Amino acid sequence: MPRYHTPCMPTEVARYLDCRPGETIVDGTVGGAGHARMICARIAPDGLFIGIDQDKDAIRHARDKLAPWAPMVHLIHANFGHLERVLDDLGIEGVDGVLLDIGLSGHQLQGSGRGFSFTKDEPLDMRMNTDDPTAAADIIQTADVKTLAKIFRDYGEERRAGVFARAIVREREHADLSRSRPLADLIVRLVPRREAARQKIHPATRVFMALRIAVNRELERLQQVLPAAVRRLNAGGRLCVLSFHSLEDRIVKHAFRDMSAGCRCDPRLPACVCDRTPQVRVLTRRVVRPQADEVAANPMARSTRLRAVVKLAAEEAVR
Ligand SMILES: C[S@@+](CC[C@H](N)C(=O)[O-])C[C@H]1O[C@@H](n2cnc3c(N)ncnc32)[C@H](O)[C@@H]1O
Repeated sequence: MPRYHTPCMPTEVARYLDCRPGETIVDGTVGGAGHARMICARIAPDGLFIGIDQDKDAIRHARDKLAPWAPMVHLIHANFGHLERVLDDLGIEGVDGVLLDIGLSGHQLQGSGRGFSFTKDEPLDMRMNTDDPTAAADIIQTADVKTLAKIFRDYGEERRAGVFARAIVREREHADLSRSRPLADLIVRLVPRREAARQKIHPATRVFMALRIAVNRELERLQQVLPAAVRRLNAGGRLCVLSFHSLEDRIVKHAFRDMSAGCRCDPRLPACVCDRTPQVRVLTRRVVRPQADEVAANPMARSTRLRAVVKLAAEEAVR
């Protein structure tokens, strides 16, 4: 049975997503259906809920959890990168809200058996969608030093990216690195003990996170979905994104800034030639973090960051 955790920042999500009865809301990352239950309760009985997840376990689990609202619920196994295709297939033009709670579910980390955690000894899979072609073990066993180092550096911001990449390529000549434990052990051996003792996180944290991001092409998908979600929002519709590390948050922040900006022309030009109008208003001037009491009760919420925008009506969208 999947193990899921409490949804992160439920009060803040309720505030910024601001669902009302009868609305159409997309949860692009339905996961353990915690936020989904909250949304369904608010838009019932005449609303429409579209829950998307690329993990089949999550869709199965959500079907159970959302049974009380079954007539108004569509659950779709898909990548949120294909949000517009999902809506087209359902014949839905515009929606009143989109929630994205990026990252791993408690089930994926602790109960999926797919090697997301360096504390377990499991096949190094890390695919959220098990139909995807490339697992983490394929990357570890075949990628060259340059590619591995780039993954660790770009997605994990790992200072020892080159050292780890070279060691993996050497080690895999004679050892099996297709499981999470041997990979985690190798990384631990490469970090001087004194330095490891000073670090707040396990030495393999960044490598595991980087691999997961690469396997699931997480940053690419996030970049893809933000403008797509805004395109499909009705005027006054809200997009609320929860992210878990600085790379994701930077993408969200820049996309929101970009979509809320109007004309970019040189002010010395006599008239605008770029034709850009703001599409959204940013609701969160600064990133919103969870309250201390939530972090105490739910440590998984510790690094959550929330940002939200509201879609402007055509008459508000002036340069
Ligand atoms: C943090 S959990 C969501 C938890 C959920 N909000 C709740 O209340 O239980 C993230 C979920 O998003 C899914 N996910 C991550 N990236 C995705 C993507 N690109 N497309 C679809 N689902 C994705 C994962 O499979 C996972 O189930």
